[in-house]
Amino acid sequence: MCDNNTDSKGVFAVGGKFITFEGPEGSGKTSVIKAVHDYLEQEGYDIVTTREPGGSDIAEAIRTILLSKENTEMDARTEALLFAASRAQHLHEKVLPALEAGKIILCDRFLDSSLAYQGHARQLGIEDVYQINKFGIDSHMPDLTIFIDVPPEVGLARVFDNTGRKIDRLDLETVEFHQRVYDGYKILAKRFEDRFVVIDGTNDVETVIEDTIMVIRTYL
Ligand code: TYD
Repeated sequence: MCDNNTDSKGVFAVGGKFITFEGPEGSGKTSVIKAVHDYLEQEGYDIVTTREPGGSDIAEAIRTILLSKENTEMDARTEALLFAASRAQHLHEKVLPALEAGKIILCDRFLDSSLAYQGHARQLGIEDVYQINKFGIDSHMPDLTIFIDVPPEVGLARVFDNTGRKIDRLDLETVEFHQRVYDGYKILAKRFEDRFVVIDGTNDVETVIEDTIMVIRTYL
């Protein structure tokens, strides 16, 4: 059974905090994370900002395979396993050492992305995808997850209006796929309500940043 309690608080008892950012395509996560990073750094916190898939050399190499538009033949199970492999490498190589050193990690996507994209949208099942990831992450879970809530029609319009943004293999999925990603996140926000905070991502970016900073300040 997918551990609802995600009883990992205390795993990072050394003082670090693991904060993840989740959202569908075009949710504006990247700008929000950058602003939160700058704010917390100014406040004197020791911050590491990183991302999935990727965040370390080996994990970035897996990212290249995952996001390449050439790889349209990739099987859904291969995809889920590669995301999980990239996550295990990044977690053990970068996230856990930084947490042990007492740092605050801001991570652009983590396990919940796999549960929403591969579990729900690809229809592999949230539970099955959780189980393959459990092996990789060894029950390490985020302390706080900021979910930037943007319905797919709004998010996708932003992605395709932004001429500077690189379009990857997953951006090219159908609207139905992105709708299922969104529905998946809604399920996760309920299931993991102890660590999920939902931010209205349809507001202008300054408001989304302010709302997110407020939540994180209160949390810290
Ligand atoms: P990225 O360029 O980092 O996109 P974004 O700015 O939207 O975060 O690409 C990551 C893509 O990989 C994105 O479409 C979400 C997808 N993804 C999964 O499908 N499963 C996962 O576990 C992760 C981490 C990402």
